[in-house]
Amino acid sequence: MKSQSLKVQQIEKSRTAILTGLANQMQREGIDVIALTAGEPDFPTPTHVKQAAIKAIEENFTHYTALEGIPELIDAIAEKFKSDNNLYFDRSQILVSCGAKQSIFNTLQALCNPGDEVIFQAPHWVTYPSMVKLVGATPRIIEANEETRFKVTAKQLRKAINTKTKVFLFNSPANPTGTVYSQGEIEELAEVVRQTGIYVISDEVYEKIIFNDVKHFSIGSIKQIKDQVITVNGVSKAYAMTGWRIGYLGATEEIVRAAAKVQGQVTSNPNSIAQRAAVTALNGSQDDVGIMVNEFRKRRDFVVEQLSKISGLEVVPPQGAFYVFPSVKVFVGNRVNGKLMRDEEDICRFLLENEHLVIVPGAPFGGKKHFRMSFACSMKELEEGMKRLRSGFKKIAEGY
Ligand SMILES: Cc1ncc(COP(=O)(O)O)c(C=O)c1O
Repeated sequence: MKSQSLKVQQIEKSRTAILTGLANQMQREGIDVIALTAGEPDFPTPTHVKQAAIKAIEENFTHYTALEGIPELIDAIAEKFKSDNNLYFDRSQILVSCGAKQSIFNTLQALCNPGDEVIFQAPHWVTYPSMVKLVGATPRIIEANEETRFKVTAKQLRKAINTKTKVFLFNSPANPTGTVYSQGEIEELAEVVRQTGIYVISDEVYEKIIFNDVKHFSIGSIKQIKDQVITVNGVSKAYAMTGWRIGYLGATEEIVRAAAKVQGQVTSNPNSIAQRAAVTALNGSQDDVGIMVNEFRKRRDFVVEQLSKISGLEVVPPQGAFYVFPSVKVFVGNRVNGKLMRDEEDICRFLLENEHLVIVPGAPFGGKKHFRMSFACSMKELEEGMKRLRSGFKKIAEGY
């Protein structure tokens, strides 16, 4: 048989899937496994949004739509960009896609040639390196760590840019660290972007999930670089609508046309019913968002407090999203009952096998010696999960 494409061979198989598979098997065997791994809100989609979808079906709104998205949704997005983000787009500057994931992929397809470099930071969302490789470009990763609270500086960005650089892929609030860049930090990055003429894809899907006094700022609202920025967002995280698959972008008309060309040959329009639901999500009551974020904040406070009681773990409190990304570096190299903990993956496996707790190893996020823990789960699960985590790390620290 002929071989598979080189592009696909370059993409790493998800290593987290191995642990998830093991956890699923344990669950099937009747073991009470706690999984703190969810990448989506554990809340239902708001009722009024679901009703809009039911109405769309009843009205037979079940056919192809305009490739770019239905006019009502494009208007709702334009309004949202204006009121929330200080971004001003005409209808021709917005493209609705099957999730923010597709918005990013369409844009990378539209902008990148083989050999172009796409810059993003580590830790990063697991998908970025694979997406960049799939479009034939090369990831160029800037390392960030606890010292800068997982943020990259303008100086680091400038150093990473060369003649091959096409795009800076920027994510705030961030997965997996919960980092939120301040306006001042973003302005410094934007100055580098202006001077070098590169594009920015700004992935803002966690925009609404942000805690206390922290403010989200859209890099595209900086006038001097507005035509270089593609702002990506979606309804998945803000409205607990991950399964509906609606994301969108705002950019110059030229970029939107190019991204739409890609989409037109791959999926055509996103789901018609979900588009109607998304109109209601954006235009309707935002009360459910507030309730959800308030709950995430309580859980974040609980989790950070609990984690900080585990001696040796290093934790940067997340300011947004629903993940925390602690460092386990002091535990790597320990032996438990003679078994060496070579890396965070061994630690995660130990926690699964001994405490029946699933957390995600950091390496696929570009954060070796860390793990990602989600707090998109009930307080009851979190309480039990933290108990197991404490017990597991006690054993790893004491060696038995
Ligand atoms: C940083 C980041 N961007 C984009 C997405 C994808 O969002 P969507 O469901 O809209 O495709 C995710 C989902 O986990 C994410 O973590």
